[in-house]
Amino acid sequence: MLIVGPDDEFNRKLASLLKVDLVPIERRKFPDGELCPRIMGEVSGEDVIVSMRMKAGAADVNDYLVELLLTARNLREHMNANGIWAVIPYFPYARQDEIFRKGEPLSSKYVAELLEESGVDGVFSVTVHLHRRKSFGELFSKARAVNVDGMKSLARYLKTLNLENPFVLGPDTESIVWARDLARYLGTEDYDSFKKERDLATGEIKTTAKELDLKGRVVIVADDIVSTGGTMANAVREAKRMGAKLVISAFVHPVLARGAFDRILGAGADVIVGTDTLEWAGSKATVVEELAESLKEVLP
Ligand code: R5P
Repeated sequence: MLIVGPDDEFNRKLASLLKVDLVPIERRKFPDGELCPRIMGEVSGEDVIVSMRMKAGAADVNDYLVELLLTARNLREHMNANGIWAVIPYFPYARQDEIFRKGEPLSSKYVAELLEESGVDGVFSVTVHLHRRKSFGELFSKARAVNVDGMKSLARYLKTLNLENPFVLGPDTESIVWARDLARYLGTEDYDSFKKERDLATGEIKTTAKELDLKGRVVIVADDIVSTGGTMANAVREAKRMGAKLVISAFVHPVLARGAFDRILGAGADVIVGTDTLEWAGSKATVVEELAESLKEVLP
């Protein structure tokens, strides 16, 4: 078994936890935008874990996806890899898990099928945004799909802060599941959520904040993804207005489109915690241990 991926701290740690070698990938982009991920070593006959992460803030989801597809196909067709297991910590297009408006694509399923067609035997991802699906596996027809719980990683970091009686708050109705899980890992039953409506055409959001007794409390606003930061910022602002003494913004996937971080800070967040499912210099929590555990459990 080998890991194939960029030679970064994330992959070095994953390789060391799994006690396997890391074969580096050089990520090359031509001036016209075309990509050429180059595998810098031999993998012949080996089972391979392809581990690549998207960059936070750079809006390069499509580059990332193409790199993954090219790498998997190359491993299968030209590098003579045996099994191919993809570590895709932030699964691209997961939010389009339904056709919301007539004429839209069912992108999450199409992406899963593209990965399968490129030769991927299994996918390990983290806290996949699939509110309208029963499981991550439903997206695939033959590949094995494993959805690792990123709230566990956030909780591991948050516990080191020794927070006093925290209240976990989901910024919208869907996020109640994340708030519940994080609260459970932190050993509290104090959690709830606000409500949010998003205009499907403009993306504009409106948060309806249920009045909660947050006076003097440490509040952790927990979500899976922060993209524009609008959802998170609205909830942070409301928590402060309701009297929270410390507000922590905690999320698994730091997609962080331009301006998102400042938007959350500007709303009054005292601490911002994300994981390293995307390449982001500000990640405080890491999902590597949880990923390594589930890779060990599942792989031959
Ligand atoms: C959506 O339901 C997700 O759970 C997040 O709340 C959403 O993706 C955050 O998006 P944004 O940061 O653009 O408000």
